Formats: sequence, C-alpha cells, structure tokens
Amino acid sequence: MGEFKPLVFSGVQPTGNLHLGNYLGAIRKFVALQENNDCMYCVVDLHALTAQLVHDDMPAQIRSITAAFLAAGIDPKQHIVFNQSQVPQHAELAWIFNCVARLGWMNRMTQFKDKAGKDREQASLGLYAYPSLMAADILVYRATHVPVGEDQKQHLELTRDIAMKFNIDFMDKIRPTGLGIDITVGEEPVHAYFPMVEPLIDGPAPRVMSFKDGTKKMSKSDPSDLSRINLMDDADAISRKIRKAKTDPDALPSEVDGLKGRPEADNLVGIFAALADKTKAEVLGEFGGQQFSVFKPALVDLSIEVLAPISAEMRRLMADPSYIDSVLRDGGARARERAEKTMNEVRDIIGFVR
Ligand code: TRP
Repeated sequence: MGEFKPLVFSGVQPTGNLHLGNYLGAIRKFVALQENNDCMYCVVDLHALTAQLVHDDMPAQIRSITAAFLAAGIDPKQHIVFNQSQVPQHAELAWIFNCVARLGWMNRMTQFKDKAGKDREQASLGLYAYPSLMAADILVYRATHVPVGEDQKQHLELTRDIAMKFNIDFMDKIRPTGLGIDITVGEEPVHAYFPMVEPLIDGPAPRVMSFKDGTKKMSKSDPSDLSRINLMDDADAISRKIRKAKTDPDALPSEVDGLKGRPEADNLVGIFAALADKTKAEVLGEFGGQQFSVFKPALVDLSIEVLAPISAEMRRLMADPSYIDSVLRDGGARARERAEKTMNEVRDIIGFVR
C-alpha cells in the first residue's frame, strides 16, 4: 500500500478585484499551508475565458492576483506561483479528461447551471467543460490536497470521479509501467495513477457577507463598492466602509446564539474573529453588551492592522509589473517541468507513440 506524495494545489480566477472574502476564504489558507507542504498556486487565466471571452485588462488582472499572493506572504521560491496559460499541459490533460468524464456527470454541475443562466444554448462549451479543466489543473501535478471554498466541493468530487475512472479503465496499462500506487478507495483496492484529491474546506474562514446586506455574499460584482473591502483599499477606505456598514440598533449579544436573525452583526463579528484568529464566542466575550459605536472602531483598527500592509505591498508590487512577470515565468517553467513528466507518463499509459 503506497501513498501519493502530498502536494497542495489551488487556483484563483483573474476576474475582478480581490476582496476581504477572497483573502479570508482562500489566500490566507494558502499562506498557512506553505508552512508544512509543497504548494502550487495558480492564476487560472484559461478558466477566465469560460464566461466571458474578452477581458478589459487581462494582464493587470493576472498580475493583481499574483501580487495578492505575494503580498499575503506566499513564497514563490519555496513554492510555485504561476499562471495556467504558461503550462499548456493543463489544456492537454483537460482534453483527455473530456474523454473520461461522462455527459451525465457534467450535467449535474450546479455552478454550470448557475453561470449559464436561462439561455443555456448561448453558454460556451468552455463553461460546460470548466470542471474538466479544473480536474486537469490539479491532476497534472498529481496533487493530493486542494484548499477551496464550499462552492467548489462538487468540482472536486468530479475530479475524484475522473481520477477513479481513469485509474480503473487504464488499470491494466498502469500496472506494467510501475507508475501506479496501490490505494483503497472506500473499501475498494485500486491501482491508481491519479490520487483521490482531498478538499481542504474547513477552518476558521467565515462566509464573508456584504456590508450592505448581511444575507448576500461579499462579491466583486456588487455595484456598490461600499459593500466590500477590496484587498487594495487603503486605510481610509477600509475605515470608511466599516463605519458605513449596515448594522442593527441593538448592542452585541454575549453569546453566539444571540447573533441568530442578525446577519449584519453576525458578519462583522465573524470578520473580527477571523482577522483576530479567535472564535466568535471569544469576540463576544470581549464585546458582548457593547454598542456598534464601540465595536466598529475596534474592527477598523484590527482590519487596518491586518490588511493595510497587504494592500500597501500589493500596490508596491503592481508598480513593477516586470518583477511580477518574472515570478510567473519562473513558476511557469518549474510547473511545466512537473506537468510534462506527468503528461509523458499519461501518454505512455494511453499508448500514444512518442
Ligand atoms: N474553480 C475555482 C474557483 O472558481 C478556481 C479553480 C480553477 C481551481 N482550477 C482550480 C481551484 C484548481 C482549485 C484547484 O474558485
């Protein structure tokens, strides 16, 4: 019984500005994971074409995600930071996975249904095949752990289904290569070339909601900029947005239960807890019974303390695009080397002549 070498992989689309929700929900987790893991963080620019083909400023979008990774503390020397389009092997493996995945599986994907909307005939084929490319992003490195938001869970299940079908369909071809590993999936022994990826979803990350409506997710597409904190906001903007954030007139409760039915209060307490690395109960232990006039200034101070250095560093990095590009080129070259090794093995397993 063997084990796949642990490898963390995740991707972020270069669409729209990053906000506090992206930071707390994803990037901060990426930073923490580099401590004890080999990590690859990818700006998934090929995915960005799926909903919308032409982007106003694709280079700036790619660079700003990269700058956010670096500013938050991801080390591009120790780990790999790159953009997807520099590694054509992703798209090549995705094609093979298009032939592994079944239409019935793709038809169940809720994100496709949401994004395609009513007029499905007008959705791109790329949007439909999106999860197959995502599976290829991960499996072209035979990555084992993927930090993502709850909304990506279904795509990771599909990734496992694709890996499992490939492993089983090609089992007799994998065995003689000596490249496979004996694993058990549930109770079933499988000789696997691709690992069964594990989502890393849990953790202290709260669902960060809009500052204008505590029942809606904080989103880059909300027309009101006051609804979110962008990662590039300076201290003034952060302060203004928190001070203007919607609340209710009551004091904060002393127990977490008291946040029920108070989505705005719940959101701000959750953000405070996440930024302070505390539980909501601990935050309420400190602020229970206090008015927002006391809590909000404390949240402003904390937010500025945590976020202002990141935003300053992002702005500094964005002023030097050639440095960012060199990081991506270097990461891309190292990623390509790993991906090409996998692809050669996959070509051999399938029986392509090379
Ligand atoms: N679909 C992911 C999202 O929208 C982005 C993504 C693309 C991704 N490829 C990935 C995430 C591979 C993790 C692993 O959040």
